[in-house]
Amino acid sequence: MHITIRQLQIIEAIVQTHSYSLAAERLYMTQPAISMQMKQLEHNIGVKLFERQGKRIVLSSAAHDIYPQIQRLIADYDGLIQDIHDAKDLHKGRIKVSATTTSNHLITQMIAQFAKINKDITVSLKITNRGDLVQQLQNFEPDIVLMGEPPEKLDLLSERLIPNSLVVIADPEHKLVDKKKIPLVQISEEDLILREPGSGTRGAIENHFNQRNVNIKSSLELGSNEAIKHAVSAGLGIGVVSLHSILLELEANKLVILDVADFPINTYWHIVKRKGKHLHPAAKEFQDFILKEAVLYMDSYKQFID
Ligand code: PGA
Repeated sequence: MHITIRQLQIIEAIVQTHSYSLAAERLYMTQPAISMQMKQLEHNIGVKLFERQGKRIVLSSAAHDIYPQIQRLIADYDGLIQDIHDAKDLHKGRIKVSATTTSNHLITQMIAQFAKINKDITVSLKITNRGDLVQQLQNFEPDIVLMGEPPEKLDLLSERLIPNSLVVIADPEHKLVDKKKIPLVQISEEDLILREPGSGTRGAIENHFNQRNVNIKSSLELGSNEAIKHAVSAGLGIGVVSLHSILLELEANKLVILDVADFPINTYWHIVKRKGKHLHPAAKEFQDFILKEAVLYMDSYKQFID
């Protein structure tokens, strides 16, 4: 049985684009060349790899089971190529980091510090919500991920970093501002501005309310913490966000944290990678840096939750 890495890359490109012609474009090949490679491979291994669903090409169920291993091999191969480039200088390299929308402030500050002392290492950062990030992890795309609770289903290595407290925010003129220990039920009856489904923050809030048998319904769903802050400041309702995302607004007295019973919701940030994903030296250096550095960020927001 003979399988080439190029054939595996073709499989991945077809899976991601659902099309032979788009896969060909992505790999700078012709469509007939792609079809021929796949035909040869199917003949060699005796497994039909793809089937049609209308206009889309999708993995056959037999190929579905082996696809995670194919992704791992491609990721290892990419890691090997990267290492060959970096072998000349351990302090050079490119690191692919992904982080959830809410950890944006934290990760960019840490990358800025890292960049000051590692000028020859390029960090490429993707910010996205939890749902998309889990998908990226599934595809072995990022070297290192910063996120809330790591998903249980994937084979991951994760380390807990620092707390990520979710708080209820309002504009300083809001009627609930001076109230103490506001019951959760009362919060659920307010106009509640929440993140979109797929967001880790949204998931944590829903779990928190469900565990206490309180219904939760959003009056407005927004795709970023920035948008929530603007909507809350504009008096459209109250919101629930991570403390990390509102430090400047709290200092400037543009937003206030409401005193709500059972709040804050205490979750944690984690640094995560796929088990079996090869990390090149620069990425390892970055991982160690984050683990050491994260505690320094604790002090900046501790005052607001004690
Ligand atoms: P989010 O993620 O930006 O998708 O809400 C926060 C998290 O990772 O828990």
